[in-house]
Amino acid sequence: MIVILDFGSQYCELIARRIREISVYSEVIPHDSKWSEIKEKFNPEGIILSGGPNSIFEDDSPKCDPEILESGVPILGICYGMQLLAQHFGGKVAACDKREYGPANLLIDDNFDLLEGLWLEMAIWMSHGDSVVRMPEGFSQLGHTDNCPFAAIGNRQNKIYGVQFHPEVTHTPRGMDVIRNFVYRICGIQPNWTAKNFLEESIAQIKEQVGTDKVLCALSGGVDSTVVAAILHKAIGDQLTCVFIDQGFMRMQEAEKIKQLFTDKFNINLIHVDAVDRFFKKIEGVTDPETKRKLIGEEFIRTFEEKADELKTNFPWLAQGTLYPDIIESASTGVSDTAVKIKTHHNVGGLPDDMEFKVIEPLKKLFKDEARKVGLELNVPEEIVFRQPFPGPGMAIRILGEVTRERVALLQKADAIVLEEVKKAGLYRKLWQSFAVLLPVKSVGVMGDKRTYQNTLAIRAVTSVDAMTANWARLPYDLIDVISSRIMNEVDGVNRVVYDVSNKPPSTIEWE
Ligand code: XMP
Repeated sequence: MIVILDFGSQYCELIARRIREISVYSEVIPHDSKWSEIKEKFNPEGIILSGGPNSIFEDDSPKCDPEILESGVPILGICYGMQLLAQHFGGKVAACDKREYGPANLLIDDNFDLLEGLWLEMAIWMSHGDSVVRMPEGFSQLGHTDNCPFAAIGNRQNKIYGVQFHPEVTHTPRGMDVIRNFVYRICGIQPNWTAKNFLEESIAQIKEQVGTDKVLCALSGGVDSTVVAAILHKAIGDQLTCVFIDQGFMRMQEAEKIKQLFTDKFNINLIHVDAVDRFFKKIEGVTDPETKRKLIGEEFIRTFEEKADELKTNFPWLAQGTLYPDIIESASTGVSDTAVKIKTHHNVGGLPDDMEFKVIEPLKKLFKDEARKVGLELNVPEEIVFRQPFPGPGMAIRILGEVTRERVALLQKADAIVLEEVKKAGLYRKLWQSFAVLLPVKSVGVMGDKRTYQNTLAIRAVTSVDAMTANWARLPYDLIDVISSRIMNEVDGVNRVVYDVSNKPPSTIEWE
């Protein structure tokens, strides 16, 4: 495996993903990790020093344990990481006359190992204010640009390399060749990180961890919790029981579908908690979005606690669908500490700390696309594996204003039409999300020969890679037309449909 020391680059997670894309396991760890601990915990076959926003000349710029650099394990420093290792080995780093940010052209001086397979020149992406101006002894120049004499350097004997550019971003089109060369050729790692291998190891681990104990799993119907349940069921069979809390805000017939899938197809013990009445009661008359979210989140926890209380003597373990990005965010450079809370998110994972369960998180090392592959390996239907994200509070935050049973029923019908048509057009997997929102706005229309005064629905469809930013999707006009006509013909109480053309930021994906 490869460890990536995080010096605060926005691309750390991307580096990890790139390495896993070539079927090699990688983890991001804090830059100040001690070599003795890294060696014991990971015994890595390669180390990457990430880029970062600091200059190595700042007093409090992040450093790493020097033993890492002397460990004999192959190292690749990227941008800040390259400057750090160049300085450590006696090279010289200086501020550039002018900052270099954006595309550049790498002229290749030596393509024997790191740049093997690359000829003469290649397009690269630069983002730096300092650069190496004198190489350390034992290093040779592998590539340069007009502005940067040492854009790629290497010490072949000690297998230590540095690149000033970012091979991990798509703006460096042949960047994957550089990463592949480092991982396969220089570190000598075999590509064997696959969903199948992960599953085998994970099942063995779960069996060992859990023994003959029983495990409880909170199920939401989304990809993560379904894959967790499927892995656990494969590992421990009947020792697993899933709890599904139906709060009444899911999509049309979704609660039934979940019941069917788990009991009929997977034969998993399922406790279905019908909490619809109590949730509607809880948010009766509430219109403020944050209050709605908070009340639903609290009620979810309370309902789960009550059920868990009945069961806890029998179930020492609670399974959660935590994914790797959640772990990186909270563990490394503290991005999440400083990130401003935009909305109160509520997940099945957001359970109170003081519950008397031991927690098992079988997906905590996986990215979302890897969790999907594991799901497919376990025969979880594609309909779930490739499901678009759906917020914990469900339709309740897609109904602006008061949430009533009638309004939920209306939105469910409209939402089903949106999804059916988007799928028919072959766009479901291309869109991050596509859904309908019921607005607290009535307007005048005409149906037959009668004047109407009815609800307005907004259609929201966005593309995104990680939900941090999103663009409104340029759906074909004809598709928008079909959706709009069908909704107005088939859903009673709607006489106007509008299309949301807002990007995130400044808007958010959900309306509440
Ligand atoms: P926003 O609306 O903040 O949403 O742009 C970003 C992504 O998060 C999803 N979302 C949630 N997911 N629990 C969840 O599990 C929640 O409470 C929640 N709220 C928003 C949203 O659908 C989008 O994909």
